[in-house]
Amino acid sequence: MDANWLDGVEEAARHALPAPVHRYIRQGAGASVTAAEAGRSWDRIRFAPHVLRDVTDVDLRTTLLGSDLSTPIGVAPTTFQRAAHPDGEVAMARAAADAGSVMVVSSNAGSTFVDIAGTGVTWWLQAYLSADRTLTEPLLRRAVDAGARAVVLTVDTPVVGTKHDDGPTVWETTDPGWLRVNFDAGYDDLPGAQKALDLGPHDIEWLSSTTGLPVVVKGVLRPDDARRCVQAGAAAVWVSNHGGRQLDRTVASAEVLESVVAAVGGDAEVYVDGGLRSGSDVLAAMALGADAAFLGRLPLWCLAAGEERVLAMHRTLAAQLTEATRLAGLSSPSQAVGVLAPKPPFGP
Ligand SMILES: Cc1cc2nc3c(=O)[nH]c(=O)nc-3n(C[C@H](O)[C@H](O)[C@H](O)COP(=O)(O)O)c2cc1C
Repeated sequence: MDANWLDGVEEAARHALPAPVHRYIRQGAGASVTAAEAGRSWDRIRFAPHVLRDVTDVDLRTTLLGSDLSTPIGVAPTTFQRAAHPDGEVAMARAAADAGSVMVVSSNAGSTFVDIAGTGVTWWLQAYLSADRTLTEPLLRRAVDAGARAVVLTVDTPVVGTKHDDGPTVWETTDPGWLRVNFDAGYDDLPGAQKALDLGPHDIEWLSSTTGLPVVVKGVLRPDDARRCVQAGAAAVWVSNHGGRQLDRTVASAEVLESVVAAVGGDAEVYVDGGLRSGSDVLAAMALGADAAFLGRLPLWCLAAGEERVLAMHRTLAAQLTEATRLAGLSSPSQAVGVLAPKPPFGP
């Protein structure tokens, strides 16, 4: 396949998927200002590559929260994977397992944790907390029992940002059985099951002691908040604006990543997502100090064509990242902080 085939996967999925599903994956909140500018924000990062260095061997391997992985490129949590393909999360997990990538499983998943874990993938649970925290405990217990290695607390969604649909929505047109199968039956009707509006740093401690797992805080865009997460015991901070699906006009992840990395100061891992589409984008993220980069829509577009296409995506991204790393004069993308060009590029 041509190295640029990834640029065409959204268009291919548009033909393969029912219109409401395609629209659901693609859409941003509000006027989609943030969703639209995510990709362009990575294009603005400039490298100053090293030369006269031995780049015979390039190694993408990394360790995140104690798990050894073949690549620093992970799969972000996304809802409705079974609307993209009948095998949904299980197909996504098989491809991630083959690629040696970490997969973050949405708490809304339409496949059971046991089936996902059965693929052998390294996986983390993404969780929202309910107003009554104790109602979340059975979900957390199921994830721990099935072998989740971390829990990712999404903190940018006290309410779901309004999206504008010019037709029927995915919620109205797809099988409700493709969603939230890891919750107890009737969960959503329980008093206190709505998303918590009063999340605080104490919830990081609560999640950590309830699960015994490292806690990742997803949706952080400010250095001061990043610091509060670390002080509350977060093992990692995940810079994200939720793919532009929450507060529209929110700053791009690429714009704030470096300041968050500085605030964390090595006391926790730092991840990023939002608009990453190529190995060069991932190198840019790592040059800004990220330990790993996650992709939301790209693997979903590929999933519309099945597991093999998702695996091809992982392989292509790994090949692109290997090439970009070598061209930057490095033997690992983990060294990329050193190739960030000074701002403004090389002075006036
Ligand atoms: C269709 C879709 C569903 C999503 N569902 C969730 C979710 O259930 N939980 C969550 O924390 N983030 C969710 N996200 C946000 C992603 O985890 C991620 O932050 C975002 O997609 C990254 O941007 P990208 O799509 O440009 O790669 C979703 C994103 C999309 C596109």
